[in-house]
Amino acid sequence: MRSASRRVRGEGKRLALVPTMGALHEGHLSLVRAARAASDVVAASIFVNPTQFGPNEDLAKYPRSFGRDCEMLEREGVEFVFAPSVEEMYPAGAVTWVTVEELSGKLDGRSRPGHFRGVTTVVAKLFHIVEPDKAFFGQKDAAQVAIIRRMVRDLDLPVEIVVCPIVREADGLAMSSRNAYLSLEDRKRALVLHRSLERVRHLVDEGERDALRLIAAGHEEFVREIAVRLDYFEVVDSDTLDRVADVSRGALVAVAAYVGATRLIDNILLGPAKSDNH
Ligand code: PAF
Repeated sequence: MRSASRRVRGEGKRLALVPTMGALHEGHLSLVRAARAASDVVAASIFVNPTQFGPNEDLAKYPRSFGRDCEMLEREGVEFVFAPSVEEMYPAGAVTWVTVEELSGKLDGRSRPGHFRGVTTVVAKLFHIVEPDKAFFGQKDAAQVAIIRRMVRDLDLPVEIVVCPIVREADGLAMSSRNAYLSLEDRKRALVLHRSLERVRHLVDEGERDALRLIAAGHEEFVREIAVRLDYFEVVDSDTLDRVADVSRGALVAVAAYVGATRLIDNILLGPAKSDNH
């Protein structure tokens, strides 16, 4: 992979990387298309990274569809698919980690200890192997985006991080490989994540700026959907992931919930207020 990358870049071409864990959907394809538009050559990685799954999480049953993924990537004109084995990525005795302190313990990091350490370690390795000019990530994983951006900044990694908007189903459900786990009933229940965020957006449009009141409104939607267990509903700064009290200067509203056994996440970004009514 590295020699292919060096050859491409040696020819003066710009190389983009779209890191994935496979089980591709339209959300991934939107990253591929953005990568295609912004560079000459596109590489996608497919690697279900064991180090970002906790011991009781879904590593074993995570959806895998390698053949179909490759066909989809080929249709998009992706030049390289990098699909290493676990043994290649983590040779026996590997004990070195990349950790973004503090941020990695917030949002999903609070309920998934060790998750972001696994993400940053594998993404740093992918950047070293592929040496892309740009790498494309989805806004759905908002905490992951903040943490990867911080890693790139702190370690002076020579790659530009490009973040693409969330892609949603027609009814608003954010696309996720984990949606495949949902029964028909749970699929309907899962809409509460989007509904809670839309409620917040509506309140902000009406002039509400107080984070606690916005959070309370988000929680109310979950009280009505008792079969869904809320993990967190937070209003934070999108770079530091610290809680904010007031959204006048913009904020990330992020939610995670268990729909049955399936943990789903979603978020919206609130822009800075143009005129403050309060
Ligand atoms: O977002 C994902 O699919 C994964 O966390 C990533 C970035 C491919 C690292 O395994």
